[in-house]
This record gives sequence, structure tokens and C-alpha cells, in this order.
Amino acid sequence: MSNILYFETLDSTQTYLKEHVNELDDKTVVTTETQTAGRGRFDRQWVSQPGGLYFSVLLKPTKIDFLANVTQLMALCVCQAAEQYAVQPNLKWPNDVQVAGKKLCGILSETITQQGRITALVVGVGVNIAQQDLSHVGQPAVSLRELGVHVAKEDFLQVVLNLFFQSYPALVAEGFPIIRLAYKERFPFLGKQIVVKNGACAVTGIARDLSPAGTLLLQTKDGLQEILIGDLLV
Ligand code: BTN
Repeated sequence: MSNILYFETLDSTQTYLKEHVNELDDKTVVTTETQTAGRGRFDRQWVSQPGGLYFSVLLKPTKIDFLANVTQLMALCVCQAAEQYAVQPNLKWPNDVQVAGKKLCGILSETITQQGRITALVVGVGVNIAQQDLSHVGQPAVSLRELGVHVAKEDFLQVVLNLFFQSYPALVAEGFPIIRLAYKERFPFLGKQIVVKNGACAVTGIARDLSPAGTLLLQTKDGLQEILIGDLLV
């Protein structure tokens, strides 16, 4: 279904795909045991020691209307994969997966632009699989191993990829509506007060809904705001 490239170590699976985009096919997956310069959202570092699952998927969609939703689909698939191992994770909009407030997985998507046109999307996923001590990562985090799940990362990767590629064509064609219900079922913040941070700006409000576009509808003191990007501080 998709070609998987395995490495012992890389600077970043994101960087690898971006540097080789022209030689590689749509749906190529690259995974590595460790990364020396793993990257997270908002230019944060992603500590990538042995035991974690680090992979990126190269996508060359013919239609690019719903790129942000591709990342949300990947988050949902990681959640559903963990559920197959009897873990009860939830989604932290837009694309974190957590268990009891601790981060299990983070996703970073980056577009590739050539001659002023978006030609590809690289979706990078870091899942805490077998680490036994995540105290160094700078935020509450948990691994599947710490939750009592013993799974080979290659097996977990395959489950995630199967789920992802089952829904990807429909998502590219129709966008967030095809996953909205499943996503909302795993998003426990609806009706709750949350803070959304984007750079230096933080907005407080009640999470009212996820729109058909996958954006967050936040009831603030100034009215209903549509949040396109940010980090939930919960
Ligand atoms: C985040 O939560 O900030 C996103 C973290 C994304 C980390 C993954 S690990 C595989 C891929 N390669 C990287 O350098 N980053 C992503």
C-alpha cells in the first residue's frame, strides 16, 4: 500500500522527506529509531530517544482544499489505533493525542511549495511507545508502555497507516465532515472552559463546537470566535 523506509537515525523524518520529495512517491513513509533534530509545532524541539515511534508520511494530493484536516485525520487514527490496545485516549484539538492529560502523540504537518504552488504535504508523527521515563520532555507525557501496553512500534505503525489510508481518499475529497463525528466523540472539551494560545496571544472561552471545516468554535466574552490554529492549554 505504502512504501516504508526504515532508518537507524536521522536528523528528522520531516527533513528527510522534504529533501527527497522529488525522488519519492506519493504515500512514502519514513521511520527512524531516533532523531537528532526532531521538530515539533511552533518550532519546538521533539526529543526523539529510542523507544518512541517517529515517522513522516509524504502526500502529494491532487486536491489541496483540506490539508489541515489531513493532520486531524492522522490524530484520529492514532487515537483509534491506541483504542485497539485497550487504551482510552482523547484528542486535544487540533492534533494532539493524550491520555488523562498526558501527551501520547504529537503531529506536525508541513507543506512543500514549488514554483509558488503547494505540491506536497509531510505529516510527521511522534508516538510515545516504549519509553519508561519521559520526565525530560518538558510537558506531561506518557507512553503506551507506561499504560501497560507492550506493542512493537512497527505493529503500531502498521495499524495507524491502515486506518489512515482507509479514510484518506474520502478526506481529500470531502474534508472534515467525514471524520467530524468520530473526532468530536474523542474531544472531551466541548462545553468546557479552555484557553487557546497562539504565539503571544491567548483566548479564553467555552469550547462550543468543531465546525464542518474542523476549526474550533469558542464562546468568548466578545462573542463566538472561530479559531483556526493554536494550542489548547489543558
Ligand atoms: C508536536 O506535538 O509539537 C508535534 C511533534 C511531531 C514530532 C514528529 S516525530 C516524526 C516527525 N519528525 C519530526 O522532526 N517531527 C515529527
